[in-house]
Amino acid sequence: MNRLFPTRKKAEEIFETVIQKRNATKYPFKPEWETEFRKHCHAVASIAEKIAGCCPGLDSEKAYVLGLLHDCGRCVDEFAENRFHANVGFDWMMSEGYDDVARVCITHSFYDKDFDIEKFTQPYDDLLKCQAYLKNVTYNDYDLLLQLADVLNDKGTTCTIEYRFASLARRYNNPGILIHVKQLQQIKAYFEQICGRNIYDLVGVKYDKTQISGSGHGRETLACGNS
Ligand SMILES: [Fe+2]
Repeated sequence: MNRLFPTRKKAEEIFETVIQKRNATKYPFKPEWETEFRKHCHAVASIAEKIAGCCPGLDSEKAYVLGLLHDCGRCVDEFAENRFHANVGFDWMMSEGYDDVARVCITHSFYDKDFDIEKFTQPYDDLLKCQAYLKNVTYNDYDLLLQLADVLNDKGTTCTIEYRFASLARRYNNPGILIHVKQLQQIKAYFEQICGRNIYDLVGVKYDKTQISGSGHGRETLACGNS
C-alpha cells in the first residue's frame, strides 16, 4: 500500500512552504507569530514521535510528520480570510495524495467527532464539510495521539493539558473549551497504559509533582516549562 504521508525530509520542505505561502498573503505572520508557530509545530512533532516510539504498532516517523503538518492550514490567516485552517490543510494535503496528513488536519480540531456545529464559530460551510468527513471516520490511535500532542504544547512551550486549555480559553475567549480537559486526560491515560510511562515525564513537561500529592486535591498545577 502506498504511503499516504510524506517522508520526514519532504515534510520539513512542506513546512517551509506553509510559512512561505502565509507570508506571501495579504496577512503574513508577524515575526513573533512565525517563531511561535515554528516552535509549536516542531514540538508537537517531537512529542508525537516520542510517544509513538514507546507504543508498539505505532510508526514514530509517521507521528512526527503528522505532528509537523497538523496545522499546515495556517498557510492562510483563518480569521482574516474567513476560512477554517482544518479545511485549508485538509484540501491541500488531499491534493498532494497525503490523505493521512489531511485526516489529522481535521481530526485534531474535533475532540468529539459528532460535534455540535452550533457550538463552533468557524465558517459554516467549512464546518459542514468537516462534519460530513468525520461521519465516515472512526478515530484511530494517530488521531488521538495528535489531539494529545497538540495540547501538550502552547505557543512553543511544552505544558500540561490544563495549562494549554486555560491558554486557549483566554485566547479565543471561549471558556466552554475547558469541558474537554477530562477527555484529553483520558487520552493521556490511554497512551500511558500502552507505553507504561508517564507522558509528562516522557515529553518533558515540567510541573510541580509535590502539588499533586501535597495539595490534597489531586490536582496538578498549571506550571509549565520549555521542553
Ligand atoms: Fe496545533
